Amino acid sequence: MKKKVLTGIRPTGNLHLGHLFGSVSKWIELQEEYDVNIEIADVQALTDNFNNPKKVRENVKEITLDLLSVGIDPKKANLFIQSKIPEIAELTIFYSNLVTVARLQRNPTVKTEIAQKKELFGNNGESITYGFLGYPVSQAADITIFDGEIIPVGEDQLPLLEQCREIVRKFNSIYGETLKEPEQLLSKITRVKGLDGNEKMGKSLGNAIFLVDKEEVIKKKIMDAKTDPQKIKKDDPADPKICMIYYYHNLVNKENLETVCTECKNGTRGCVACKNELIEKMNKFLKPIKEKRKYYENNPEQVENILKEGTKKAREKAKEQMEKIRKAMMIDYK
Ligand code: TRP
Repeated sequence: MKKKVLTGIRPTGNLHLGHLFGSVSKWIELQEEYDVNIEIADVQALTDNFNNPKKVRENVKEITLDLLSVGIDPKKANLFIQSKIPEIAELTIFYSNLVTVARLQRNPTVKTEIAQKKELFGNNGESITYGFLGYPVSQAADITIFDGEIIPVGEDQLPLLEQCREIVRKFNSIYGETLKEPEQLLSKITRVKGLDGNEKMGKSLGNAIFLVDKEEVIKKKIMDAKTDPQKIKKDDPADPKICMIYYYHNLVNKENLETVCTECKNGTRGCVACKNELIEKMNKFLKPIKEKRKYYENNPEQVENILKEGTKKAREKAKEQMEKIRKAMMIDYK
């Protein structure tokens, strides 16, 4: 039996290089060896996008196309939609008895997110909703309803996994050994820097290269990216370590990376030429991804079927697990 990997993604925007190199490339690797399950977490996305259902709806499709285009293989990995598994919502209610409000308020991931969403939740989080504060509980249900054993995560998700394990231990101690404690699998690269040099590439930070970006957009983004500010003239030597152009060469240019580095340091490489070369390499890197996307865009019934079949399989597992859970909780009325 293959070990079960469970992961999720909020459908709030298209995938960018940060997603690809930070997490999705790991999933692609794992699908060769493990039973990989990818939840399109639309219910979780609604916790901070409840006022924008259209955005969530559209991005379920967008994210699916993005995932398929980069090489998530529906024969190897199971893709499903969270809202189509109502058992997750049911389990979330039972788990919510096992978590204190104070513990949720102390969760570092939740704290950071509340601070970032002032418009929605107020300057000091005074307008935080019950739903958003509780999303770690719902995520614990996501993981355990499928018996997720291995959870590939970035550092920012660790507190959520810790909270999930606490819920599992509490559940097992009250209702009897029923649930498995999931393990994390920390990726080596967990974040990709943004075009502006920010430690994190993010849609809301406005510093991302999206997989669907058109060639003209990529050109503009790369031309405006941050380089070594000490380099004024074309033949000034520069420090590639602080240059975003070199940083992205590192991701997509396997051909002459060392040359780029030495020439930059020696001052024999002008920034414009270096950027033009990156634009070319970036487009070359994205080309097969865009072609695969086009294929799926032209075959919408195939995409629909992938989600339907994946969701059906996931639901069967969730139903089975819920029966076990209801029995343990003595609510298994016939
Ligand atoms: N919280 C995750 C994110 O924002 C998405 C997610 C939902 C998830 N359910 C999950 C991740 C279950 C791992 C396991 O990226």
